[in-house]
Amino acid sequence: MLLLGIETSCDDTATAVVRDGREVLASVSTDQDAFHARYGGIVPEIASRRHAALLSAAVEDALARAAVTLDSMDGIAVTRGPGLIGSLVVGVASAKALAFAANKPLYGINHLHGHIFAAFLDRDLPARYPFLALIVSGGHSQLVRVQSPTKMVILGRTHDDAAGEAYDKTARLLGLPYPGGPELDRMAQHGDPAAYKFPRHRPVRGSLDLSFSGLKTSVRYFLESPAGKKAKLEDVAASFQAAVVDVLVARVDAAFSQREYTGVVVSGGVAANSGLQHAMRLWAHRSGADVLIPPPKYCTDNAAMIAAAAFYQRDAVQADPLTLTADPNLPFD
Ligand code: KG4
Ligand code: ZN
Repeated sequence: MLLLGIETSCDDTATAVVRDGREVLASVSTDQDAFHARYGGIVPEIASRRHAALLSAAVEDALARAAVTLDSMDGIAVTRGPGLIGSLVVGVASAKALAFAANKPLYGINHLHGHIFAAFLDRDLPARYPFLALIVSGGHSQLVRVQSPTKMVILGRTHDDAAGEAYDKTARLLGLPYPGGPELDRMAQHGDPAAYKFPRHRPVRGSLDLSFSGLKTSVRYFLESPAGKKAKLEDVAASFQAAVVDVLVARVDAAFSQREYTGVVVSGGVAANSGLQHAMRLWAHRSGADVLIPPPKYCTDNAAMIAAAAFYQRDAVQADPLTLTADPNLPFD
């Protein structure tokens, strides 16, 4: 089953052609970082205008790279939410038009489900249920029990900032350019993670919730203090990263010990983080669990993951090309 994927929920204009939810024939993504960098964050109006300017060419590009035609597709998968409304609308309207014109099935996909199924791209590993998924992105941080392709239960979520948001805001405090997450990750690799002990969020007993705003504030107060003014920024970055990673691994560990799982998927932009990847590999070794983390290009937003989710969920998510709507607040389940 060959699917064309379209993802425009935030600031990446992404298209892909994927066979059977796994084999990526093409995955094209144009980030808009250069357009948003000077504002220190994503400007929604700029994002939707860039999508409108880039998307048609991105669809043609993906088809050309995969050496296929629109006519040979078995369907079109598009992110319908959650995300920025103006950005989502560009992708959804284009996908509807393509599906209608080419008379192809249309699949409306939840962006976060895409992140989960990204773990199976370019791998010869079938999904085995139930598995535990940790989604850590710029907009979301949550732990999910994935019981089947369409039955998922949120076990815990952040009370405030998403992990990626905490990275981006802390990176800004450290004077790093936008997007800060990857920059902070690079800086942390040259610092001492034990230099400073920043607070780790502890949930009430039994809860699997997360919180990052206290950590971010604590870094801010430290940087404003006399000791902070003299601190090596690499050490601050590494100590911040250690705190985030500790909390995430602790929550995965707690969730994994509460129920039976075939393994753990870690995905979303922050799953590309070197410290988290390293810590999850150590945890996998310690706990004997199978841990699947997509390669960095499929951790961050991409359209291959949207085509993958559509493959697994196809019976439940087929939509009418005349009536499908974008939903910026699309619920997870
Ligand atoms: O999944 P994603 O591409 O978009 C959303 O759905 O939000 O995630 C983007 C987030 C940003 O906050 C970015 O700073 C963060 O993921 N990120 C990272 C790294 N790469 C991307 N955070 C920490 N370390 C990284 N290497
Ligand atoms: Zn995302």
